[in-house]
Amino acid sequence: MPEISVVILAAGAGKRMKSDLPKVLHPLCGLPMIEHVLKSAHAVRAKQTIVVASKKSDPVSQYFRNNSKIKIAYQGQALGTGHAVHSAEKFLKRSKGYVVILYGDDPLVKPETLRKFVDTVVKEKKTLGFVTAILPNPFGLGRIVRNPMGDAEKVVEEKEATEEIKKIKEINTGIYCVQSEWLLQTLKKLEKHPVTGEYYLTDIVEEAIAEGVRVLGFVGEDPDEFCGINNRKELARADEIIRGRLIEYWFSKGVAFIDPRHVYLDATVTIGEGSLIYPQTFLYGKTKIGKNCLIDSGSILRDMVVGDGVTIKPYCVLEESVLEKEAVVGPFARLRPHSHVGPRAHIGNFVELKKTKIGKGAKANHLSYLGDAVIGEEANIGCGTITCNYDGVKKYPTKIGKKVFVGSDVSLVAPVTIGDGATIGAGSIITDNVPPGALAIARQRQINKKNWAKKRKK
Ligand code: UD1
Ligand code: MG
Repeated sequence: MPEISVVILAAGAGKRMKSDLPKVLHPLCGLPMIEHVLKSAHAVRAKQTIVVASKKSDPVSQYFRNNSKIKIAYQGQALGTGHAVHSAEKFLKRSKGYVVILYGDDPLVKPETLRKFVDTVVKEKKTLGFVTAILPNPFGLGRIVRNPMGDAEKVVEEKEATEEIKKIKEINTGIYCVQSEWLLQTLKKLEKHPVTGEYYLTDIVEEAIAEGVRVLGFVGEDPDEFCGINNRKELARADEIIRGRLIEYWFSKGVAFIDPRHVYLDATVTIGEGSLIYPQTFLYGKTKIGKNCLIDSGSILRDMVVGDGVTIKPYCVLEESVLEKEAVVGPFARLRPHSHVGPRAHIGNFVELKKTKIGKGAKANHLSYLGDAVIGEEANIGCGTITCNYDGVKKYPTKIGKKVFVGSDVSLVAPVTIGDGATIGAGSIITDNVPPGALAIARQRQINKKNWAKKRKK
């Protein structure tokens, strides 16, 4: 196998996105677009991978700043795709093999397709190979003009196409595999296009035909792999395509979805076998879901670690926390970062946790705020319990021992410690530590005034 260099073009302005963020950094299923391109590029086992960015300070260069596997070439001014590849010359000069060129805004090509294409170019010893596709709606893309024999002759951009050419449905996908030395020679010959003032990489196709070198026009089969992204609508469509692939993948791993079209998940999420996901579930970031979990409708999970057999009832918002095996959460529970719910513990309706550890089998089932707290095994936190963890300046911890019973509507003014097995009377405001096994009641005694109503009416 000859040596392969991958060049990814990412220095364009992306004006059609109407965004301050460079186009190739827009997220698709939780990863910047260009990461999807890199994932596919992985399939060709390149000796080097070069990303063409505009300048050192641009967000794309910054994004790869600490990535030693990526070399950055600077294009300076965006003078077109041909000019962009030329900017990588210093990395390609010594290469004797092939250069695989990918556009940073074409993130949908599958690794296996890219592999097959590159293998064919190499095996058939072509000088230039490029991938085309037949799209039902080719608007905006470069069209492939073929001669009467059916051989590709040139690529014509939408802006420069005649009405006749605009009717062509075969497009240039922006994926090329080119013999390095020929590529570098040919890039030098490119001329500016008068309409846009740009150097088009696509002109290498016409040049190859004119020179009579060996060319392969490889027709990609699945149009969904070749939708380049130039605007926000195409971005949304690409997101949908990638999501569909992720769902297919998780189906194959034994995950069940009730209505897969309405589940949103990032490419970085993992889900265990036997888990069942209801519609309107949002799984983001580094979320890891164990086996045989049930996630009912309406929940949002971000960077969560969920153990096996966990049940998440509808409408929970859970972030950067851990749910251990067989925990039950929701409906309407809120976990803020750094919370940890132990095995078989229950966090119920309208309960908010922040930096709180809930012991094995403990329960807080209704209407509570538990912040900066550690709650022992099998403790029972009554409805409406609140940890008063903040005095307006600092945060303080609350410690609740094992098997503690906290009655309803209790305020625990931190810092405070409740010993194992203690009981707190309902409605108490606890400001002092409670020894193990004690009963603490901190509220006014009730007074009943006999016949009060009758007297008042007189
Ligand atoms: C390009 C192709 C078109 C093809 C389409 C596929 C050319 C002239 N046209 O058009 O035939 O159908 O892609 O999606 O190649 N870039 C740079 N520097 C530049 C210009 C662009 O790095 O000076 C990068 C962009 O960041 C982008 C990629 O090259 O990632 C493609 O540029 P874009 O402007 O999107 O080209 P299209 O108009 O989509
Ligand atoms: Mg494009």
